[in-house]
Amino acid sequence: MTFPDERTVIVTGAGSPRGIGRVTAHRLAAAGWSVGVLDLDGAAAEAVAAELRDTGAAAVGLAADASDPAPVDAAITEVERTLPPIVGLVNLAGISSPKPFLEETVEGWDRIMAVNLRSVFVMAQRVVPGMIERRLGRIVSASSVSAQRGGGTYSKSAYSASKAGILGLTRALAREVSEFGVTVNAIAPGPIDTDIMGGTLTPERKADLARDVLVGRVGTQDEIAALIAFLLGPDAGFITAATVDINGGLQIS
Ligand SMILES: NC(=O)c1ccc[n+]([C@@H]2O[C@H](COP(=O)([O-])OP(=O)(O)OC[C@H]3O[C@@H](n4cnc5c(N)ncnc54)[C@H](O)[C@@H]3O)[C@@H](O)[C@H]2O)c1
Repeated sequence: MTFPDERTVIVTGAGSPRGIGRVTAHRLAAAGWSVGVLDLDGAAAEAVAAELRDTGAAAVGLAADASDPAPVDAAITEVERTLPPIVGLVNLAGISSPKPFLEETVEGWDRIMAVNLRSVFVMAQRVVPGMIERRLGRIVSASSVSAQRGGGTYSKSAYSASKAGILGLTRALAREVSEFGVTVNAIAPGPIDTDIMGGTLTPERKADLARDVLVGRVGTQDEIAALIAFLLGPDAGFITAATVDINGGLQIS
């Protein structure tokens, strides 16, 4: 299957003004993708979609809880009606949880698991049939260095377990769909300068988070976006079931 000029990527969790998703959406739009900007915060998703349209890209803002099949189905149906075929899915919707193990609740656990892990299942299950039919797909999901190190940055057990679950789901799904031209990969970022770790990072917190990072700093949204764009692109067809570390050397796998 040749890589089509007209193609759409759905980026979940892309509404956050300082988040990885918004920067990723911009980079993908600049690389020729039409973009479905999906976020729980519909106004934020639409604002990012409007920014993309201002650059000349085709984009729609989609208000949906990525872990809930009904709104996800409605959002993807809208994309299928208005944009080119869906080739890419980037799963970035996520929430953190700094609660120590003994303080975590069942409700908190279930919420983290739903937003961080079930969302990947729900989103992929909705878009994979079309990808298989067209014999082309690229799925990239955000795990975390927290999955590999058992936390150690900000979030603790529930977050770490949800991000480790993404690695198992990525590998299992890759086994089922790669033969149809659909690649499925995870990225495992170290600390990035966004607001997910309890608000904007102060210089002191950045220095603290960077202490064991070999390159001596936290990462940027654009560094993550560049990796995602490569994994989504035509040159990445032989990469599937992979976990790609992007952590400045914090975790040496
Ligand atoms: N920032 C980091 O240091 C870091 C490191 C490793 C992994 N990650 C992962 O990267 C992803 C993006 O993180 P970020 O730093 O940009 O965070 P962020 O908080 O800036 O953005 C997360 C976005 O997800 C959205 N969201 C939350 N629940 C949702 C739901 N149920 N449905 C749809 N959207 C929902 C939020 O509204 C927000 O826009 C997350 O999955 C995060 O766990 C981040």
